[in-house]
Amino acid sequence: MIRRCDSRDFETIYSIINEAAQKYKGIIPEDRWKEPYMAREELEHEVEEGVMFWGYERNGELIGVMGIQHVKDVTLIRHSYIRMTAQGQGIGSKLLSFLAQQTSRPILIGTWADAAWAIRFYEKRGFRLVPPEEKDPLLKKYWSIPARQTETSVVLAERKWFDLSGKEW
Ligand SMILES: CC(C)(COP(=O)(O)OP(=O)(O)OC[C@H]1O[C@@H](n2cnc3c(N)ncnc32)[C@H](O)[C@@H]1OP(=O)(O)O)[C@@H](O)C(=O)NCCC(=O)NCCS
Repeated sequence: MIRRCDSRDFETIYSIINEAAQKYKGIIPEDRWKEPYMAREELEHEVEEGVMFWGYERNGELIGVMGIQHVKDVTLIRHSYIRMTAQGQGIGSKLLSFLAQQTSRPILIGTWADAAWAIRFYEKRGFRLVPPEEKDPLLKKYWSIPARQTETSVVLAERKWFDLSGKEW
């Protein structure tokens, strides 16, 4: 079951993010890794900034989360994390297609350049990497992340964004 998360889910969201983010350890640049990967204050900040989390519940327990944030003229998919034991069972795909139906704006997704599995996951689900020269301006315009994270991230977009921006799909 997919449902909107609320403040009662905060600790569970925090726990899922930091468990699933273990996957990044040793893969993303060392200076970008920290433990916990996302501190409680950061998560609080993200929610204050308008990230709305949705979760996938099984047997009354949240086992995956994904955030959606409307920024200017686009919608961002933020913080996709599925509990380690529940990955590869289609939950991320269900959350992504559910969230994609919640907006009519073009969807953008940012992830670590080194997270090849995540890039593949989105590529198989209707997203493509934006041209390299577009990536940094997009990250600056729509995300509030440090410069070093911009350098080490990529942006994927759905076809609608390519068409509206006059870029070749
Ligand atoms: C990436 C992630 C959100 C995908 O969710 P999921 O529920 O595992 O994905 P699904 O089961 O719907 O789809 C699995 C697909 O994703 C890929 N995949 C990515 N990470 C995977 C993992 N740890 N285990 C299994 N499959 C994974 C597989 O290649 C598979 O592709 P295919 O079925 O098209 O061949 C989830 O695996 C996760 O939390 N990973 C760690 C954190 C992360 O990388 N988050 C992305 C941040 S942008």
